[in-house]
Amino acid sequence: MNTLKINNLNLTYNNGHQAINNISIEIKNGMFGLLGPNGAGKSSLMKTIVGLQKPSSGSIQFNDVDIVRNSDYIKKNLGFLPQDFGVYPKVSAYNLLNHIAILKGIKDDTERKDQIQYLLEKVNLWNFKNKEVHTFSGGMKQRFGVAQALLGKPKIIIVDEPTAGLDPEERNRFNTLLNEISADVIVILSTHLVEDVKNLCSEMTIMNKGQFLKSGQPKELILELKNKIWSKSIEKDELDFYHSNFNIISQQLVERKLQITVFSNEQPKDFEMTTPLLEHVYFYALSQNNE
Ligand SMILES: Nc1ncnc2c1ncn2[C@@H]1O[C@H](COP(=O)(O)OP(=O)(O)OP(=O)(O)O)[C@@H](O)[C@H]1O
Ligand SMILES: [Mg+2]
Repeated sequence: MNTLKINNLNLTYNNGHQAINNISIEIKNGMFGLLGPNGAGKSSLMKTIVGLQKPSSGSIQFNDVDIVRNSDYIKKNLGFLPQDFGVYPKVSAYNLLNHIAILKGIKDDTERKDQIQYLLEKVNLWNFKNKEVHTFSGGMKQRFGVAQALLGKPKIIIVDEPTAGLDPEERNRFNTLLNEISADVIVILSTHLVEDVKNLCSEMTIMNKGQFLKSGQPKELILELKNKIWSKSIEKDELDFYHSNFNIISQQLVERKLQITVFSNEQPKDFEMTTPLLEHVYFYALSQNNE
């Protein structure tokens, strides 16, 4: 079992912006979802874990090794798929993986060959091994990104918004691949798609303004909202009234009327009870934080 322990982590950028605000968490094997809106601090946290960014204070331990001080240890055991991979050099997929494998310290030729073939087959790119990566579609690039992240058999894999921009079929294929990998390692997945976290992650947290608002198993967090989510169909011009009088957590246009969902411990008059969803957990946590 692998363990990542984060304690009282803070990161303030040079411009004074506090991107990570006193985060503590313990993460074990399986898929961990980091769910949060744009600017929440997801990428900042991931860059700090992988050692691309030094925290201002606090500690990060991987399998009891202090990885802020000993960044070689995490580099050896880590696979990272950044949000923005940047520009691909004009070399084939095979040669690029070979190059990355050398950088990761896989010195033995046969070992490198075996791993590259295994991974290209696993991500369904073996037939494209001689094509240059910059000519790949978005989905193929992301799958290539997973292959490079898996080189060296990492114990912790960090993927930053990997399905952004993928069509539904590619997104499914990508998610299935991540799910397969996560049995014996830690996979941390950042996203703003509630759907992906619900389908994939055994543990999760909701991040906003550098803080973890709510952490736990998705099903537990949903259970906390049982009997507390209510909905009603209203006219559009009534919205201001409902906003001032209720804790609205989502609104949706249904046949030209607005379906609003509110949080309340008691049943509000003329509202119907609704089965809570992870989406409600997310929007409720954010609404509490933005008050
Ligand atoms: N190098 C930097 N210097 C100063 N501020 C930064 C830097 N990088 C990020 N920030 C700020 O820190 C905050 C968190 O940014 P971050 O990229 O970590 O968010 P995110 O959750 O990954 O967002 P997104 O979903 O858009 O990728 C933002 O307000 C951002 O403007
Ligand atoms: Mg980001």
